[in-house]
Amino acid sequence: MAMIQRRDFLKQAACTSALMLSGGLPLHAAGSRCKIDVLLNEPIGAISPDIFGHFAEHIGGVIYDGIWVGEESAIPNYAGVRKALVDCMRRLRPSVVRWPGGCFADSYNWRDGVGPRHQRPSRANFWINTGFLQGAPDGPAKYEPNHFGTDEFITFCRLIDAEPYLAANVRGLSARDFHEWVEYCNAPAGATTLARQREAHGCRDPFRVRFWGVGNESWGCGGDFTPQEYATEFRRFTSWVPHFDVAPSFIAAGPNSWDESWTRGFFEALTRRGKGYLNRVYGWGLHYYCGTAGKGALDFGPDDWYELLRKGAAMDRLIRNHWTAMGEFDADHRVKLAIDEWGTWHPAGTEVHRTHLFGQTSTLRDALVAALTLDIFNRHADKVVMANIAQLVNNLQSLFLAHEDQFITTPNYHVFEMYAAHQKGQSVRTEFSAPDIHQGDGTLSGLAGSASLHGKRLVLTVVNPSITETRETEILIPGATVREASVRTLSHHDIRAHNSFENPNVLIPLDGRARITGSDLIYAFPPASAVRLTLDLV
Ligand code: AHR
Repeated sequence: MAMIQRRDFLKQAACTSALMLSGGLPLHAAGSRCKIDVLLNEPIGAISPDIFGHFAEHIGGVIYDGIWVGEESAIPNYAGVRKALVDCMRRLRPSVVRWPGGCFADSYNWRDGVGPRHQRPSRANFWINTGFLQGAPDGPAKYEPNHFGTDEFITFCRLIDAEPYLAANVRGLSARDFHEWVEYCNAPAGATTLARQREAHGCRDPFRVRFWGVGNESWGCGGDFTPQEYATEFRRFTSWVPHFDVAPSFIAAGPNSWDESWTRGFFEALTRRGKGYLNRVYGWGLHYYCGTAGKGALDFGPDDWYELLRKGAAMDRLIRNHWTAMGEFDADHRVKLAIDEWGTWHPAGTEVHRTHLFGQTSTLRDALVAALTLDIFNRHADKVVMANIAQLVNNLQSLFLAHEDQFITTPNYHVFEMYAAHQKGQSVRTEFSAPDIHQGDGTLSGLAGSASLHGKRLVLTVVNPSITETRETEILIPGATVREASVRTLSHHDIRAHNSFENPNVLIPLDGRARITGSDLIYAFPPASAVRLTLDLV
């Protein structure tokens, strides 16, 4: 067990002496003790379960081959939805799923995807012209069959007990089309022609969709708008939307990564005619892909490991920057952040099928990016109301890989399962003291994490990014005594460790109990690990 007595710990000279690169060059020399202070009386905010949200686009193998196998399939399914995926998702308490895009959303006509499946039109998919799909066999990645539409997506959400988040087509359809989609989804049974259509399609009761995205990446694939033009569109699309009895929460298409001019341009233009328009925006949809480092998803060394984790950790600065920019126009911060696309993005080559555009195999490195990122969201629980990792299955930082009857969970899945324990807790401030990891111009915190309080239970998640160093750490919780502690750890001695169809359980979390002696906790965080400590306090 990694928990040791405080007395023994204090005898130890130092937390670490040096981190070594693969080539043997010292990255850092330090002699300080590692320490985590959990400040129970410094609450940050309630952690929205929607921070642990998902995203599923009609792209590559996400919907077809990933989620939807069809009711006639020999692959076990619930009403056409892959059973294995549903069963896993239920364990995550997934809260919200964004659909149908991504870029696809601004090419999608929701009417194509309702009604008898055999009568639905087939359309060229938004992504058909990407180089990756040239030479790939024809199929749903190129030609959208519309077998999975609004009704099927709602069925999926109900199966996994998640709220739907639908993204409207601003580039290609009108505000009226959008309002009619809202009506199709939310009008009371029998009340309107569209409600009766929904009923004829087998869905009598309204879907009660609350989250509506107004376009996607409107600075790019969503219409190439300027922020000023988009602000006008946003106002138009969100004016006089039929409410029924579900007040819509609109998510505006936010910036690409560091582009603060989009944030400032939008908020300045939106509020030009009055601050009241801020009330229309529930979430500002920031997108951040931290990208890759090294040659590929599976082909990287220690330097690349640290580089990617640093890029992932930059989410913290990104949130602060945009939050400050938003505050220039929204002093009371009525509008929060909805980071509705985030993740790593590696070059092609590790996808599990030829048609899975952007499909990638996730390693321990990706899992630690996920853990670092979720910790950042928790630490900004006062700012972030929603976040959606891209994307659920067979795509960028996915939780699952699937092809035909094969299906596995990736290490990202295990991180989400571990971190679900934070949901609805009160995020409390933490201070981490550990030797930084210096690399090139960049610095990565030697330990990072977040804590949430749930009555008398504290959930503390911690990432140790060091490939070589165990971090023996004193955990101080002033005002509380720990009665019992359990530990769940995701780690591996091989930084490239990943699950595959052949070896699906290479990377799975391990459980332990932590021994407590006296009032203080000492815990040794293993190298390259994400750890969840669940502490019962008295
Ligand atoms: O997630 C893949 C694509 O990345 C999305 O469609 C788009 O919104 C983003 O650029």
